[in-house]
Amino acid sequence: MAIAIEKSGAPLGAAIAGIDLADDVDQATFRAAESAFIDNQVVVFRDQRLSEARHIAFSRRFGELEIHVLKQYLHPDHPEILLISNIVEDGRPIGIADAGQYWHTDLSYVAAPSRCSLLYALELPVDEAGETRGDTLFASALAAYDALPEAMKNRLAPLRAIHRYGDRYERMKSEGGVRTALSDEQRRQVPEVTHPVVRTHPKSGRKSLYVNEGFTTGIVGMPEDESRDLLAELVEHVKRPEFIYRHKWRKGDMLMWDNCSVQHRAVADYALPLRRRMHRTTVRGMVPF
Ligand code: SIN
Repeated sequence: MAIAIEKSGAPLGAAIAGIDLADDVDQATFRAAESAFIDNQVVVFRDQRLSEARHIAFSRRFGELEIHVLKQYLHPDHPEILLISNIVEDGRPIGIADAGQYWHTDLSYVAAPSRCSLLYALELPVDEAGETRGDTLFASALAAYDALPEAMKNRLAPLRAIHRYGDRYERMKSEGGVRTALSDEQRRQVPEVTHPVVRTHPKSGRKSLYVNEGFTTGIVGMPEDESRDLLAELVEHVKRPEFIYRHKWRKGDMLMWDNCSVQHRAVADYALPLRRRMHRTTVRGMVPF
């Protein structure tokens, strides 16, 4: 297959045309797509018609798949797929309705965070004016790092940060979302971890800022107020408009993003009866360095 790459115009994001993911993708085409992914950090394959099995098979070509800690939102027949949805069936939410509505990278709260995530759009909220809602924002943490003054780069170089799932989960729960309490077993599965504040990309070798508003709770060994101020400055810096790509979804989009170098946030500008149903797979990564 011959692929065509159309860049978004932002420092990250591109559409890859010429691949039908429902077919077997040959190795040369896969390598070309993977290389475009590493260069562009976020890529979309438009107009796909994918079974769950095909979604999983394509995702597995990037590595082993994670099974999310929130077991109640896994696809009943395919636990590799996490449902992100505001739909309620038989009085029960079929997916996480408020997933990712804050800046984060997937699974930064585990020792070997995710390499990448693949999100497939099955149903999208369209308002009365015909506008599709529920965009996703992506920020290039590579571009954000590159733009830092040298003095800040030197200050950050030796630092490690603490990442924790439970704090964010509790905050979303207390803000009136639909979340139930984490079980003791779920808590045990996500103990606190630390990662370097500046991360080197395992494929490209480029450096990025690896602290995020969602899960980073402090800097190791730094007094609390100093740590809070530094984190606040860094998370504000990453979301500057010049580092952002805004994805406007179309049904059939298979979008993937690089969790080593990208942060993202789901825009919560819709509610039932406007329905949104997405399937996400998450590929295992390596310990950050
Ligand atoms: C996520 O953080 O994986 C959710 C993104 C989205 O639903 O747009």
